[in-house]
Amino acid sequence: SSKFTGHQSAQAVDYAKDRDTKSQDALYATSNGAPHPHPYGTQRAGENGPLLLQDFHLIDLLSHFDRERVPERVVHAKGSGAHGYFECTNPIPELTLANLFSERGKRCPLSIRFSTVGGESGSHDCARDPRGFAIKFRTDEGNWDLVGNNTPVFFLRDPAKFPHFIHTQKRHPATHLSGGDDSTMFWDYLSQNPEAVHQVMILFGDRGIPDGYRHMNGYSGHTLKFINKEGEWVYVQLHWKTNQGIKWIPAEEANGHSPDHSQKDLYYSIEKGDFPSWTLFIQTMTPKEAEELWEKQKINVFDLTHVWPQKQFPLKEVGRIVLDENAKNYFAEIEQIAFSPSHLVPGIEPSADPVLQSRLFSYPDTHRHRIGTNYQQLPVNAPRCPFAFGNFQRDGAMAFHNQGGRANYLSSIEPISFRPPVVDLDKTHAHFIGNAVSFLSAIRPEDFNAPRALWERVFDDGARERFVKNISNHMGNCHHPEAVKRMIAIFREVNADLGARLEKATGVQGYPSIKGLTFNGSHNNMEGGLKT
Ligand code: HEM
Repeated sequence: SSKFTGHQSAQAVDYAKDRDTKSQDALYATSNGAPHPHPYGTQRAGENGPLLLQDFHLIDLLSHFDRERVPERVVHAKGSGAHGYFECTNPIPELTLANLFSERGKRCPLSIRFSTVGGESGSHDCARDPRGFAIKFRTDEGNWDLVGNNTPVFFLRDPAKFPHFIHTQKRHPATHLSGGDDSTMFWDYLSQNPEAVHQVMILFGDRGIPDGYRHMNGYSGHTLKFINKEGEWVYVQLHWKTNQGIKWIPAEEANGHSPDHSQKDLYYSIEKGDFPSWTLFIQTMTPKEAEELWEKQKINVFDLTHVWPQKQFPLKEVGRIVLDENAKNYFAEIEQIAFSPSHLVPGIEPSADPVLQSRLFSYPDTHRHRIGTNYQQLPVNAPRCPFAFGNFQRDGAMAFHNQGGRANYLSSIEPISFRPPVVDLDKTHAHFIGNAVSFLSAIRPEDFNAPRALWERVFDDGARERFVKNISNHMGNCHHPEAVKRMIAIFREVNADLGARLEKATGVQGYPSIKGLTFNGSHNNMEGGLKT
């Protein structure tokens, strides 16, 4: 069963009790457990006097209320989630020793959180925005977090750009207006950083507003590495495709939906037993193929603005993801869940993708700030390994499971046990860097190939019309004409007709080409040779 509470550790047992608590079984008490006659009834000095400091019941109530909020996530603040399981349908022990992929039919419990990206915690579910799609697999050898989005590519390949780009979608420092009312910062950034164009095309295409979370796919975006027990490894991309079919909301209809449209859709589908599922696929590539792909097609596996061509690297099915259980307590099970691309398990390693490398740091860092040093001890995050595990981390705020009287250093008197390493990491972290690091910010002609294919081969006539309308409407709120002119040049690089149509729709004459343009965020390498 995928039952979220059905696990071995003592923690989970306590948690199960807490989750199933019923009002009828509870006796009202203050937080120190002292039964109290009634939740109202403030102590007052006389008929009309001030309050008493001795009234712990009131102080307990108010001071806890005052602290109810943890900081919302700096991105992906609005979300929904549920629990379920992964079932392996095609084992791949020859590729990875990650044990969730070891046997056909093997199940692994998981939790998922979906999200929009830019909006605040109360923002509209039907925003035009990428969607987060993060999965915590509770494997027998620790938790593996696959922290992906609903798009296979991303806006940037240099992690230093991330806070800048995100800030363009937050409220303006002076006007305090967000992107819905003023898209100037957004287009200013994008017109200076053309490597974002593929993701922008997806965002303003039909899939830019998914109809709830059940009707969209998920992608790792980044290249990871799968390592087998011989220490051999391949590069991997993961795709998980919806079995509910893709559905999206036309731009005109988005505001007609409830701001909690996706939350409602997910919660009530699960509640009525209509469990959403996704099929998990992998693409694999040997290190040699990766070098060839760079040499011949100028696609770098460490650059997540590019995808791996599926004809050359076909999708292979490995399993099924099912959500069959709602959270009983949203805050405990969804708000407090803490994902990180660095929560990996034996058999899965990060690649040298610079954006991924930065994320390995950023997520645990933000969790320590958002929910505390011991965030991994919160029930929804705690590993549920079938073996007793220990380490030398102690104390800190909210240390619920402080490992008793066990030695808190590497003791020779009370030795802890170790499992010898299965793979030699020196060998698996090979040295192919494919120029990703040195050319992170260069815009090359190859950057426009995938967006061009999207416009010319994937979009039909209707989709092209809607795309032009979505972009030009959004640019209606951009108060920096230079940004629009530059964006038209960037879109013209994708396809000449697209550029012309945008000129007509916006009434702005764009630059004829990006050749000769300089960017504040990128090197223009369209003609070979770097221009800054
Ligand atoms: C959430 C940073 C790129 C997917 C977050 C959070 C931070 C962050 C700080 C908030 C986490 C929390 O408070 O729990 C970054 C940085 C990036 C980056 C610094 C690049 C340098 C990406 C990319 C993807 C992604 C490329 C997808 C491929 C997500 C998802 C969440 C998230 C799904 C929400 C997780 C949840 O539901 O709790 N990111 N991010 N991020 N990010 Fe990123």
